[in-house]
Amino acid sequence: MDTTRGRHPHTGSAGAANPPGDDAELFWEKHHSTRRIWGERANPLLVETAEPLAPGAALDLGCGAGGDTVWLARHGWQVTAVDISSTAVDGVRTHARDLGVGGRVTAEQHDLARSFPAGEFDLVSAQYLQTPFPLPRGRVLRAAARALRPGGLLLIVDHGSTAPWSWNRDPDTHYPTPGEVAADLGLDPGQWPVVRAEMPRRQAVGPAGETATVTDNVLLIQRTAA
Ligand SMILES: C[S@@+](CC[C@H](N)C(=O)[O-])C[C@H]1O[C@@H](n2cnc3c(N)ncnc32)[C@H](O)[C@@H]1O
Repeated sequence: MDTTRGRHPHTGSAGAANPPGDDAELFWEKHHSTRRIWGERANPLLVETAEPLAPGAALDLGCGAGGDTVWLARHGWQVTAVDISSTAVDGVRTHARDLGVGGRVTAEQHDLARSFPAGEFDLVSAQYLQTPFPLPRGRVLRAAARALRPGGLLLIVDHGSTAPWSWNRDPDTHYPTPGEVAADLGLDPGQWPVVRAEMPRRQAVGPAGETATVTDNVLLIQRTAA
């Protein structure tokens, strides 16, 4: 889902009456309650990054329908899946159990603006962690970098373009480049060097099976071994 209409996709303004976290939870709860399709597709850049690695502990930030969580669990990873939506968290947990990989998935509800899961990870993945509500992404992703084990990878994939099937038709949407995301993180490059900062294009499949070329903004950071 593209959530980037008419504003910076990570920090767009929320409604006025309720605390931002409550509005965000309601919004995403409604989204996931309507769809209820779990674990269907893994994101290509997650697969490309994780496939050559020896399985370890992974953290899926904003797991959504859980395609990445399930892919990782089926490939031997122990996965902590996190989302603001309890429906998403419950759906991913149940789906993993139905597939026989429930023992490899811990699904937790967190509003990442307010709390972050405990643990140390060999891979942290934030795939399209984009929302129309305020989210201190820099702070969240710095916490993710600190939660990496030595040698661990932090993979951040964001939209770099608007898919034709997106409801977002706003030409003013700014998609932060990998360089801008890295600058926002402000990590010490001696301890967390960037190993990939690219904007690859790929063929994407829309909800009705239609295809189009889209751009992803990819940032891969590795915690040094020392
Ligand atoms: C654009 S979707 C991407 C979902 C999934 N990673 C994927 O690639 O399909 C963003 C996800 O982040 C979750 N999310 C949004 N704001 C959040 C927050 N503050 N804390 C935790 N999860 C959040 C949403 O519920 C949603 O599942």
